[in-house]
Amino acid sequence: MKTMTTRSALTGKDFISTADWTKEELGVALDVAGELKAAFKAGRPHRLLPDRTLFMIFLDLSTRTRNAFEAGMTQLGGHAHFIDANTSQIAHGESPRDMGIILSSYGHGIAIRHDKVPGEGNAYMREVAKHAEVPVINLQCDEDHPTQQMADLMTIEEVFGTRNLTGMRICVSWAYAPSYAKPMSVPQGLALLLPRFGADLVIARPPEYRLMPHVMERAHRLAAEGGGRITEIDDMDEGFRGAQVVYPKSWGAEHLFGNEREALALNAQYKSWICDSRRMRIAAEDAVYMHCLPADRGSEVTDEVIDGPQSVVFQEAENRLHTAKALLALTMGGFGARADGERPRSTLRRRARPTRRRR
Ligand code: CP
Repeated sequence: MKTMTTRSALTGKDFISTADWTKEELGVALDVAGELKAAFKAGRPHRLLPDRTLFMIFLDLSTRTRNAFEAGMTQLGGHAHFIDANTSQIAHGESPRDMGIILSSYGHGIAIRHDKVPGEGNAYMREVAKHAEVPVINLQCDEDHPTQQMADLMTIEEVFGTRNLTGMRICVSWAYAPSYAKPMSVPQGLALLLPRFGADLVIARPPEYRLMPHVMERAHRLAAEGGGRITEIDDMDEGFRGAQVVYPKSWGAEHLFGNEREALALNAQYKSWICDSRRMRIAAEDAVYMHCLPADRGSEVTDEVIDGPQSVVFQEAENRLHTAKALLALTMGGFGARADGERPRSTLRRRARPTRRRR
């Protein structure tokens, strides 16, 4: 098979940010996701990970991500364990280092959602990965939501028939929600990924809702390499103007995480930032409405738009399953050992721990 070598080369590779993978590697994952989607629809078995175990650590709630990965592991012939803080020793402060070492000795992959506190989640999962012997997948952190963004890119490719986004104007806009401090990871993840494929990405946001500077610096660097562009403006209408994809969603102001009262008061100043049919008419005629879900209906978006003909949110949500399975199969050895005979990179990071001999 043409891309088999590339596929097996991804065995053992962490997926903590799309920015850690080359465009070619991301393309391989999207190709595999397309094949797995076709197999799933046709009812063809695709047990690429028989008897393998994935450990899923969730330090926040989830509908799509948990169920896409859990169902995905079952369909690949393996099993996923759900772990949360309150029913594990994480609540008692068990360290990411120890989690990485111990869970590696029980199974074949670790996936983590840790997205509630700026400055913590990405560092936590990189610490797990440093000590794990198995690949670590980011199920959303403070900086990025890379498995969501892979489904987003897959959906854009299905809708427009190409993953070359050169010249495509995509508007990621802040939108009002009456809820407290959603992570910044989705807009940041979109900025890290889509301009690498050529997109002209416009981020529309009120001035207080700036994204993390170090993440945006990386996004701008990658955009320049990929031929895309990122522009930030403070006008939602202007962002929508001529856009072929609109992706309006709420996120928290970084300086108000931990301060719920002020965060909600600030949000309330921008209630007019809603995606409605007037704004959809400002966008390009063939524009699609996207959202990672769950959406705050009536605040972020009107029912008319999210349930209307331009909305692709359910296709986007479904693609979470197919992209999750592709990432699991590729990183957890579903396409065989690496052709160069190397052990997965993650197994090389940690020096062997001394073992005590039994007397
Ligand atoms: N889009 C997304 O990550 O959904 P969940 O929070 O339900 O997993």
